[in-house]
Amino acid sequence: MTTTATRNRPVTRRLRGMATSDGAGVSLTRVIGTQQLSYLDPFLMLDEFGSDKPGDYIAGFPSHPHRGFETVTYMLDGRMRHKDNHGNEGLMTAGSVQWMTAGRGIVHSEMPEQEEGLMRGFQLWVNLPAKDKMGQPRYQEFSADRIPEVSPSKGVAVKVIAGHVGDVAGPVQQPATDPLYLDIAIEAGASFGQAIASGHNAFAYVYEGEVSVGADSVGKGELIVLGDGDAVTVSGTSAKSRLILVAGKPIGEPVARYGPFVMNTQAEIMQAVQDFQSGRF
Ligand code: FE2
Repeated sequence: MTTTATRNRPVTRRLRGMATSDGAGVSLTRVIGTQQLSYLDPFLMLDEFGSDKPGDYIAGFPSHPHRGFETVTYMLDGRMRHKDNHGNEGLMTAGSVQWMTAGRGIVHSEMPEQEEGLMRGFQLWVNLPAKDKMGQPRYQEFSADRIPEVSPSKGVAVKVIAGHVGDVAGPVQQPATDPLYLDIAIEAGASFGQAIASGHNAFAYVYEGEVSVGADSVGKGELIVLGDGDAVTVSGTSAKSRLILVAGKPIGEPVARYGPFVMNTQAEIMQAVQDFQSGRF
């Protein structure tokens, strides 16, 4: 029999996102993918959007391409219609996840399907290794009722989008980066411990309330990067806190990125631009 001591991961960085706009003028907060934190392998970008002012979101994200990575949209509130150039179309509703593997190319639009009310969620970009960058595009889409929710301890509720909490598995499969993606709600005084594979990069982003991780207090709008170890423990320090906890296996390859194209070399980026312009996506 072997026993392995748990090594809690320390907080190695903390930062706040930057207000920006993207698409046709959607206001959002970019948390990963800025000069502060340009890449946390395999995570290329994290955007938080959240507003009840239609002017902040109504313009949406009209037709645009992607190649070489995955876009992961997690809707907390509101509705967004997705449509691509391969004939796929769907409505993302509150609590749903769309894990889109762009592979060799998708041209799509993501447009709000509401003219008022709260629109809130995240878009995470996850890189692909060279061997998968030119693969077939595919979708893993799950409505809220297909995402398991577990309560591992009193005052803690966890939606398991990808990876495992105990023996409960999230529905998303991606062996290339073996992702963990949890949405955690935690009450004051409650604690949640989660295993995170050693060697995987990991971060947490608090979007409501305040929590503590070890000796560090982490408030709304703060992202923490976790150092090496095999677990993390989060405790609630405000009435109700919510955060996402995300981890993945680093790819360790060179990254060439140009807007919505993420490849390994500059030549592959130029090829992507050419292929897109000549309608080969
Ligand atoms: Fe997109």
